[in-house]
Amino acid sequence: MRDLFDRMNEPAEVNVAPDRGRGVIARYRTFLPVSESTPIVSLGEGGTPLIFSPRLSAIVGRGCEVYLKYEGLNPTGSFKDRGMTVAVSKAIERGAAALICASTGNTSASAAAYAARAGIRCVVVLPAGKIASGKLVQAFAYGAKVVAIDGNFDDALRIVRELGQRDDFAIVNSINPDRIAGQKTAAFEIVDELGDAPELHLLPLGNAGNITAYWAGYREYRDAGKSRTLPAMLGFQAAGAAPIFHGRVVEQPETIASAIRIGNPASWEAAKEAVRDSHGVVDIVTDTEILEAQYWLATHEGVFVEPASAAPIAGLFKCCEPARAPAYPFTKIPEASRIVCTVTGHGLKDPDVMADRLTTLNAVAPNEQEVLRAIEES
Ligand code: F0G
Repeated sequence: MRDLFDRMNEPAEVNVAPDRGRGVIARYRTFLPVSESTPIVSLGEGGTPLIFSPRLSAIVGRGCEVYLKYEGLNPTGSFKDRGMTVAVSKAIERGAAALICASTGNTSASAAAYAARAGIRCVVVLPAGKIASGKLVQAFAYGAKVVAIDGNFDDALRIVRELGQRDDFAIVNSINPDRIAGQKTAAFEIVDELGDAPELHLLPLGNAGNITAYWAGYREYRDAGKSRTLPAMLGFQAAGAAPIFHGRVVEQPETIASAIRIGNPASWEAAKEAVRDSHGVVDIVTDTEILEAQYWLATHEGVFVEPASAAPIAGLFKCCEPARAPAYPFTKIPEASRIVCTVTGHGLKDPDVMADRLTTLNAVAPNEQEVLRAIEES
């Protein structure tokens, strides 16, 4: 028995993903900053479904097709895993002993998992009381050292940047270019599936790494002759945390979509460039619109996403009403457009937003009549 436990606790050799289907590095190696000597740390991320949405397509009309890139089906339930496999593989290659990140919850979940896989330590610095419970559970479950600060995400990232000056820590936030490199594989997958880039790409905007990554991915793939066109990039911030939309730092960002509760995004300039060069737009959606879109998507398409991920869906609804969206570069969505919305994280990450539904669930007597009565009431 002792023998078995000893063996279970031995650090494993870093796993080597052999080929396609074994994560984004194996699939898109030539587009990524890895070499033969990079030890690949992968959990089989990527390859997420691009789900056709018949009801959203009908709402948009004009012969448009709407697809959902469902990133909640990555190994830790968000798109962060695409970047983390590259960032952690490169950190191991450089001999890092520990990872560190600031997070609104998903980066920390992903960093903790990939650190566990690689057999190194992980420290996550989080705004106290502002992390969705599912994400916090993940950081603990994967064995990360969790440090909560009395401050917001922007404070946490500032501290992590300072700690990253020391040799001990490899920063795995999206200020690390390896993260952006990995995340651009989502754009590759979309083009591989559609045969070309979509006309419009909608996604939530927080620290603005993901829009930067997608735009880099679409351009690189076009330059490599894999696609002919580029999409317009449409980024959506929560109304209470909309620094890019307003053009100024938000000191006290507030939104129910805790993943994008960010007042001073690290990739601000790159995001502006992506929007400008793609003839896209940055817009805002309110918390009410976000929650309505989240519920609509789950109940009409069977796709349950976390609140931040519903921001582009709320944004798409806005796009359909030009009167509500005067900032758009088009008055109407062009006919027969293919529209992709990235839904970035799984709904189970943040059960707290549905807490009132759980607490108002009253038990009835255990007989057929009472259960029937309860069914009719609802
Ligand atoms: N959606 C989800 C579910 C996220 O977790 C994030 C960012 C975003 C959208 C925004 O992406 O920052 O690249 O613009 N989450 C980071 C984190 C900040 O710490 O998990 P972005």
